Amino acid sequence: MTPPDAASTIVVAGATGRQGGAVARRLLGAGWTVRALTRSPDSKAARRLAAAGAEVVRADMSDRGSLDAALAGARGVFSVQNPALSGVKDEVRQGKNVADAARAAELEHVVYASAGTGAADTGIGWWDSKLEIEAHMRELGLALTIVRPVAFMELMTDRGFYPPVSTWHLMPKLAGGSTPIPWIAVDDAAAVAALAFAEPERYIGRDLKLAAELRSIDECRALYREILGRRPRGFPMPVWMFNRVASRDLVTMWRWLGDSEPAGNSDTLRAIRPESLTVRDWLQRRTARGQPG
Ligand SMILES: NC(=O)c1ccc[n+]([C@@H]2O[C@H](COP(=O)([O-])OP(=O)(O)OC[C@H]3O[C@@H](n4cnc5c(N)ncnc54)[C@H](OP(=O)(O)O)[C@@H]3O)[C@@H](O)[C@H]2O)c1
Repeated sequence: MTPPDAASTIVVAGATGRQGGAVARRLLGAGWTVRALTRSPDSKAARRLAAAGAEVVRADMSDRGSLDAALAGARGVFSVQNPALSGVKDEVRQGKNVADAARAAELEHVVYASAGTGAADTGIGWWDSKLEIEAHMRELGLALTIVRPVAFMELMTDRGFYPPVSTWHLMPKLAGGSTPIPWIAVDDAAAVAALAFAEPERYIGRDLKLAAELRSIDECRALYREILGRRPRGFPMPVWMFNRVASRDLVTMWRWLGDSEPAGNSDTLRAIRPESLTVRDWLQRRTARGQPG
């Protein structure tokens, strides 16, 4: 393990968001210097990061020049983009920009937040986009670790996912209620990313398919009822309307999950981080914190 020293800076993209935020907190907790990227350093989330000890830097992943300045002198970068905000074309542009800037700055390690199974033939736009970014990173010869989750447990509880709690209505409709879904809490994926920076010799070159547990929506619903004492709130919406107002990729993804073999298993994550939260743990913790979905 490489203990971080004061000069060891990890740049965290998307630091005001779910994954980047969790990675920034993990890295700060482990003693790294964290350079948190945001387009809006005055936002609440950015100010919270600064208060937690991060160096908050304005950068736009669409603007290569801002990335060159932000990555200078760092040891590594955690790279994440969000196609739900930018569209997949811009996701690819942004992901490649971060990769190019990492190459130019000669960073020792890039941890890339990918998604899905790593298979090329899914037809899911925001999984294919990530494969394109990964291929670019490999072409550049970056020292790369890929963290590859499928479904975050936050989908079951967080109001931030649009449309709110669509997981309980549209996912079972499209994927099937009994289809095993590979779940992971964002913080467990972030903990793995932080470990990768701490132990580069162990993690560079690895493609980590991360799931804490495979559980169907029917099983998750039963756990939710047991733990919260009521049914999760669905958000009834016909698929055509969801396609129009939310995301075609989400529809394709859930259908694909329903039609395919179980997308992975929990072996990799359990070997790295046996204490990763199960769905039961997740719902119990959320309830304890007063944050039911
Ligand atoms: N939901 C799931 O179950 C799931 C599962 C596996 C993988 N994923 C993947 O997770 C990714 C999304 O991650 P997330 O949930 O952490 O996203 P998020 O919470 O929406 O955060 C995205 C962050 O990116 C930053 N950002 C957006 N555009 C930017 C730009 N042009 N330049 C610089 N920063 C920019 C934003 O920061 P500022 O606004 O402060 O600039 C924001 O903090 C997607 O790629 C998705 O495919 C999701």
